[in-house]
Amino acid sequence: MAQQTHQTEQQLTFVAGTAPGAVPLVGHAWQMMRRPLQFMSSLSRHGDLVKIRLGPTEAHVPTHPALLRHVLTSDDEYDKGGIFYDRARDIAGNGLVTCPYADHRRQRRLMQSAFTRPQLKRYASAMHAEIESSTERWSDGLVVDAFPEMYGMALRTVGRTLYSTPVSKDLADSVERAFDAVLKGLFRQMFLPAAVRKIPGPGNRRYRANLDYLHRTTQTLIDDYRRDGADHDDLLSALLDSRDEDGGRLGDREIHDQVITVMAAGTETVAATLTWIFYLLSKYPRIERELYAEIDEVLAGRAPEFDDIARLRLTDRIITETLRLYPPAWLFTRLTSTELDVAGVSPAQSTVVFSPPPSRSTRLFPKERQFDPDRWLPDRVTPQARQSFMAFGTGARKCIGDLYARTEATLALATILSKWRVTCEPGVDVRPVPLATVYQPRRLRLRLTSRTPGAR
Ligand code: HEM
Repeated sequence: MAQQTHQTEQQLTFVAGTAPGAVPLVGHAWQMMRRPLQFMSSLSRHGDLVKIRLGPTEAHVPTHPALLRHVLTSDDEYDKGGIFYDRARDIAGNGLVTCPYADHRRQRRLMQSAFTRPQLKRYASAMHAEIESSTERWSDGLVVDAFPEMYGMALRTVGRTLYSTPVSKDLADSVERAFDAVLKGLFRQMFLPAAVRKIPGPGNRRYRANLDYLHRTTQTLIDDYRRDGADHDDLLSALLDSRDEDGGRLGDREIHDQVITVMAAGTETVAATLTWIFYLLSKYPRIERELYAEIDEVLAGRAPEFDDIARLRLTDRIITETLRLYPPAWLFTRLTSTELDVAGVSPAQSTVVFSPPPSRSTRLFPKERQFDPDRWLPDRVTPQARQSFMAFGTGARKCIGDLYARTEATLALATILSKWRVTCEPGVDVRPVPLATVYQPRRLRLRLTSRTPGAR
């Protein structure tokens, strides 16, 4: 139902509307929980800025790409907050993903030194070692559930780049379990009213207990590093060493929040990317064959290293194209700090909800639904197409881990596919199931068959 029009400084006219179908008390929360992706993508039919109701909260969804870009690049006016970030703060405190505009620039400067290219080169060997040891658990003919398998691998990989000192298997397993429970709980917690979240039922108690365990363990690891004072060549050491130009550093609480932030932001996202890549490769056998050929040619059977990544060009294009079609991070929120200056319909302190849309403009991406990694070849890609790619967000709050994620995904594909042929088992169901930060296919099982490089 279109209601009003309003113009931005670029003189684009936006239409404001309201989503139909709000139910008394819960509003659209029911649809949002049951079919979040269908619900979010249906909203563009009702306007460029669409009003929805989630329980007692009125929220606005920018559905027009230019409006979304405006929201993302005006981070002082559209600050972190709203149902997703308020709950994410339970987990990640005031870390880089969740912190408000007022703290962001300082935190970003301090975090940046842990994500430079030389740092990534250091993490690459830890990444490779962890991916290799995950695949050593596989046996010829094994069938695995794609997302949980990639999730376990990604969680252990981010854990090892953060904290390279070996820990006992028991500790690693219990951190993995607690983290898993907390991320699963986050999705539910987002939609529960505050009063219900406080009820000490088994679900809420489990969520709290796991969260407390994760916080305590993280603090112990930080205390250990502070005590021994050595440079361990990992992300935690980089965070502890980081200084801004005035010599300022991250405090203990801040380091703690950044550690949890990196684990939360860097696990499901990478796991979902790899999962969707395996699905897409199964649908496009020619591209799959070319990928095996590239990996065999560049590596000739040896383990991949950071410097190989620049030569694994098709692998990189496959990652980009998968992120275009299946951008993993599916739901974010902001809180307006002033009156919205677009479509002029909302007061200050109102919630904005959005999903980074798949970049599927027919004009920018001919045959937009087709998986075509070569559309990212330097002589084919246009600046406009690059600009419309928003899987890592945009503006000052754009993902700090984009290169980290590409490095990990490339090393994972190169390590796995040089030794294993990965095929999808029958019964694939790719209807998306939403998790805390990403969505996974409803059913995707992979068969792992060992291979020698050069063989198909
Ligand atoms: C394919 C994988 C990934 C995707 C698709 C992704 C996506 C995103 C998106 C869309 C944002 C912006 C959120 C917003 O505007 O509200 C973001 C922010 C962020 N991501 Fe990622 N991410 C990925 C991997 C990672 C990894 C591996 C790490 C860390 C190791 C990471 C750390 C962060 C951090 C710290 C921020 C906040 C940046 C800031 O506000 O300055 N991400 N990510």
